[in-house]
Amino acid sequence: MSRFPRSQDAPPEVGGVFLTEPAIRARVAELGARIADDYRLREIVLVTVLRGGVFFLADLCRAIDGPLRLDFIAITPYTEARAGGVRITKDLDEDIEGKHVLIVEDIIDTGLTLNYLVGVLRARGPASLEIAVLLDRDQRRIADLPIAYRGFQMPDTFVVGYGLDLSGRLRNLPYVGTLAEDVLEGLGLG
Ligand code: IMP
Ligand code: MG
Repeated sequence: MSRFPRSQDAPPEVGGVFLTEPAIRARVAELGARIADDYRLREIVLVTVLRGGVFFLADLCRAIDGPLRLDFIAITPYTEARAGGVRITKDLDEDIEGKHVLIVEDIIDTGLTLNYLVGVLRARGPASLEIAVLLDRDQRRIADLPIAYRGFQMPDTFVVGYGLDLSGRLRNLPYVGTLAEDVLEGLGLG
């Protein structure tokens, strides 16, 4: 297989493929089947964090054979500079009290973003609250959260594509890619 499934000319920022489209598809199908099995016929509210989680959500929800609803939330990303100031920029549209809520996120790194979200949602009294992430990078974990559904464990590298962005770009790559050396160096990650 070629290094770049869609084209020989991957965007110049991309260094290689970390997860191919078929690998993602196969794993998402497994997760969807497990979720359907775990919740049986109880309705799930999939709460997705805008914007990166939307791509994973779109595939995951179609892999779940069972009743579900979708809702979306957006928050300012957690950074140390903004430590006390994480806030909701777009709230859920529906009440989750008494509902089975499953948070769908693209990646968990420090865990601080999800930790904030879990605190906010738990206070609203859902019947249950679980987390599904496509990628789990645990080298920098600060907030230790139980992850019920995990796509892939990953090494300490920044990735783009399938929803994950580099300053807002490259979300539309159908695979998950690593960054080219010069981009990593530019970001001080090289
Ligand atoms: P955390 O609060 O450190 O767990 O950060 C999680 C958030 O940071 C995710 O929702 C992503 O938006 C972003 N993020 C973390 N790692 C990456 C990456 O490798 N590529 C793109 N975005 C990332
Ligand atoms: Mg995100």
